[in-house]
Amino acid sequence: MKFDIITIFPNIFEGFLSESLLAKAQNKKIVSVKTHYLRKWTSDRHQTVDGKPYGGGPGLVFKVEPVYKAVTALKKQQATSNRRQGKKTRVVLFSPRGKKFDQATAKRWSKMDQIIFICGRYEGVDERIAEYVADEVVSIGDYVLNGGEVAAMVAIEAVSRLLPGFMHKEESSVKDDHAQYTKPEVFYPSNKRQATSDNGWRVPKVLLSGNHKKIVDWRKAQG
Ligand code: 6GU
Repeated sequence: MKFDIITIFPNIFEGFLSESLLAKAQNKKIVSVKTHYLRKWTSDRHQTVDGKPYGGGPGLVFKVEPVYKAVTALKKQQATSNRRQGKKTRVVLFSPRGKKFDQATAKRWSKMDQIIFICGRYEGVDERIAEYVADEVVSIGDYVLNGGEVAAMVAIEAVSRLLPGFMHKEESSVKDDHAQYTKPEVFYPSNKRQATSDNGWRVPKVLLSGNHKKIVDWRKAQG
């Protein structure tokens, strides 16, 4: 699985990509994540990636040309670096106006060979990027971010952990959604522990019972 990220802020991804499971997965060649600086695909002296919106309005919008060139180049790179036929590529534009990202989307994307993420910035992108360049337009929730970079990180993490070999234990990728506890059995939140009145925070008794059937039932009942 190869993620290609088109962005004007590649540095945002550095810490995210170099820590923990995602760093290991890259070393193990389970995923490849590459950031691509959008200004590379400009040809003017100022490396212009945005312009004033037609019809007026505040802010600047991403131009279609650099994004189109970037996507075309990255698709071609994948096609030539991998001779196999039928490589599945998806081009995704992140925009607050897109369809909501969810676990089903992550699952669907986890079956691709290459995903190209276009991270919009400023006040938006030329609509022709959504219409002609991207296969889908995706938002991560009902709130407004400064750009698609954080959304891309969310998607990369959600998709990567579904890939075979990414998690320590395969079953962790579909984590049970029940409440969990670890030592101590009782936690005293202050130093006011008294021999007579016990104001400790307790682990539910059933989990200490050793009765597996009861524990399973309790977890189900938790919902
Ligand atoms: Cl993908 N982009 C921006 N700018 N804001 C968002 C978003 C994306 N998803 C939720 N809010």
